[in-house]
Amino acid sequence: MRAVAVCVLAGALCMADARAESFPEVDQLPAAAELPDMLLMFNGERVATREQWVQKRRPELKALFQHYMYGYMPPAPDKIAAKVEREDKKCFGGKATRKELTISFGPAGAPVINLLLVVPNERQKPAPVVVGPNFNGNHEVLNDPTIALPQAWMPPSAPGAKNNRATDEGRGKEVDVWNVEFAVGRGYAVATFYCGDIDPDKNDFADGIHPFYLKEGQKRGPRDWGAIAAWAWGMQRVVDYLVTDGDIDKARIIAVGHSRLGKTAMLAAAFDERFAMVIPLQAGCGGTAPSRGKIGESVKRINTVFPHWFDDEFKKFNDRPERLPFDQHGLVALMAPRPVLFSNAVEDSWANPAGQFEVLQAADPVYRFLGAGGLEAKAMPEPGKLVDSTLGYFIRPGKHSMTREDWTAFLAFADKHLGKP
Ligand code: GCU
Repeated sequence: MRAVAVCVLAGALCMADARAESFPEVDQLPAAAELPDMLLMFNGERVATREQWVQKRRPELKALFQHYMYGYMPPAPDKIAAKVEREDKKCFGGKATRKELTISFGPAGAPVINLLLVVPNERQKPAPVVVGPNFNGNHEVLNDPTIALPQAWMPPSAPGAKNNRATDEGRGKEVDVWNVEFAVGRGYAVATFYCGDIDPDKNDFADGIHPFYLKEGQKRGPRDWGAIAAWAWGMQRVVDYLVTDGDIDKARIIAVGHSRLGKTAMLAAAFDERFAMVIPLQAGCGGTAPSRGKIGESVKRINTVFPHWFDDEFKKFNDRPERLPFDQHGLVALMAPRPVLFSNAVEDSWANPAGQFEVLQAADPVYRFLGAGGLEAKAMPEPGKLVDSTLGYFIRPGKHSMTREDWTAFLAFADKHLGKP
């Protein structure tokens, strides 16, 4: 897929992050089989200066993604409060300090985030941190009987879950997924929370954070935020806290997520420049794979099986993704000049690893325009070989999962671009 120009003349522009109700209906958007040129603004004018990119095109792209795909997120809350619930300074035999915190924000009664934060003890300065939501609760991430069980709704697929609640049976089940001890050994802190704290992963907008951002009596609108936007917003609230924690280097906050939570990490970091880097793993459709892609999951399928992940507007593209005025390389472009690593698995064709490489290729002109390097590889690398340019790519043998091999690549990439801790 090549990047080509798309010129959209209809529709007034909204240059702020505020809602752009004036973007045209899907029928009025031109079809483009190829990935559109992200340096062309919605009115067809070409971005000529860095200022134009920063002041016009970035806010416009953010509005477009929210309008047509993820739904509009509310602004950051005025203030957040963080409370340390438990602390263990001798985690991993004294190698780390583990904290469990509750982070509260927003309207009274809104859900809180239960954050698990593990920080290496042996260090001269604040630690870089890898931040990401988890699928099934903090109690799965470490083998520690004292970690609080999540109170929020739990999918039946979660190990040990009974009657949609977490149980002790799930403890430690994701130790090899999160590799916290390994990351700590490399000098990185890890911060994670259960995505269901913010919004349970089911097609129900009456639970989680969503109802707290509707005015009384108001119904959910077609461009209101879906679950992915809510989880991404939750990641940003974690950053609100992390930048206040003296143990954390706020210039080195790295967003990570697997699969649906990789889509989440991508959105969170693209929209929030406090993230210095993003590493979406096997994120696929709706994250890092092209919506126009022909391999793996389609827009229609994702909207049908997971109708709550995106806004209603996105469903209008089910049979015509070629009308989207962006594709996922636009989200990567929003990351520029910050480093991005797309990570994949050979057997995970559902996430379209080759299409993801094309997404990076199509984002490359924006990085070059901003003098930020780009994607140095001309073709997909062999499995196991990290492409570590500013736009990076990694694919390893195996299946859809997060493993030690993935973390080894993540941290090598982070070491290279943000400096070894
Ligand atoms: C499904 C879905 C994907 C998603 C994945 C996951 O396979 O179709 O879009 O990434 O679940 O989150 O594990």
